[in-house]
Amino acid sequence: MEYTKLNSGYNMPILGYGVYKVDPVRTEELVSQALKNGYRLIDTAQYYRNEEGVGKAINNSGVPRSEIFLTTKLAPNGGYNETKDSIDKSLRALNQDYIDLLLIHWPGSDYLGMWKAMEEAVESGKVRSIGLSNFYGKEFDNIVNNAHIMPAVDQNETHVFRQQFEIQDSISKFDTKLEAWSPLTANPANVMNNSTLKNLSDKYQKSVAQIMLRSLIQREIIAIPKTTHEDRMIENIDIFDFSLTDEDMNEIKQLDKDVSLFGWL
Ligand SMILES: NC(=O)c1ccc[n+]([C@@H]2O[C@H](COP(=O)([O-])OP(=O)(O)OC[C@H]3O[C@@H](n4cnc5c(N)ncnc54)[C@H](OP(=O)(O)O)[C@@H]3O)[C@@H](O)[C@H]2O)c1
Repeated sequence: MEYTKLNSGYNMPILGYGVYKVDPVRTEELVSQALKNGYRLIDTAQYYRNEEGVGKAINNSGVPRSEIFLTTKLAPNGGYNETKDSIDKSLRALNQDYIDLLLIHWPGSDYLGMWKAMEEAVESGKVRSIGLSNFYGKEFDNIVNNAHIMPAVDQNETHVFRQQFEIQDSISKFDTKLEAWSPLTANPANVMNNSTLKNLSDKYQKSVAQIMLRSLIQREIIAIPKTTHEDRMIENIDIFDFSLTDEDMNEIKQLDKDVSLFGWL
């Protein structure tokens, strides 16, 4: 596994396992598989309703907690007071002493109040790093203009069709790392026949999914693909034994359409 250094001083695995739409009933089993197959970053959220299964898998894995990097996201319900309770609720659901990375899932009405409560959670040791998700432009600026702790990451839709060069550049001024959600476009079946990606797949004898993930981590973007199949988990993490050339990266750059596939910001 390779790591990227966050502005909080902590190292974060560059590739992880995301559990959006993983059925709560299967979460413990699938996260256990991911940990067994070398994943050390797990990305969940209150909204996914599967924090319990994630926590059980971590606690029963036999992997030292210090080697696992756990992210969860707060649903933006309320401001400062509600967030203090909400952080404790996640810690209880996860059955953990601390969360490695806590994100605001999307900008709600009082994200500055939320951020203040998150900064206090860092001071009290409940959380190690804090960050944002789906924050762009005005909302991102508002956080950094009022914060004591700069966001460690901004987790946004990022994949071959939305490569996010502009946001990556603008947040890098605060040493904030871009993290890619839906790094495989959420529907890789639609991408498998893309000629640029197929050619690179043939060239490196790697799957199209592996080419897409490799292109992100080479830009130092953290990627958290989701799958419910163990063979795909193994495939998605097997991307550390080859490198795309500058020319390959330029070809992939041409695929950027700079629009959301999901009608998001
Ligand atoms: N912050 C946010 O607002 C936000 C939003 C969306 C997602 N996320 C995070 O990002 C993670 C990933 O995003 P995502 O789940 O939307 O999309 P994704 O990881 O881009 O794609 C997941 C889809 O790809 C399939 N897949 C996975 N590996 C594959 C492979 N090697 N070959 C072919 N198909 C493959 C999966 O199918 P199977 O499961 O059937 O294998 C699933 O349908 C989420 O789990 C979540 O942690 C965050």
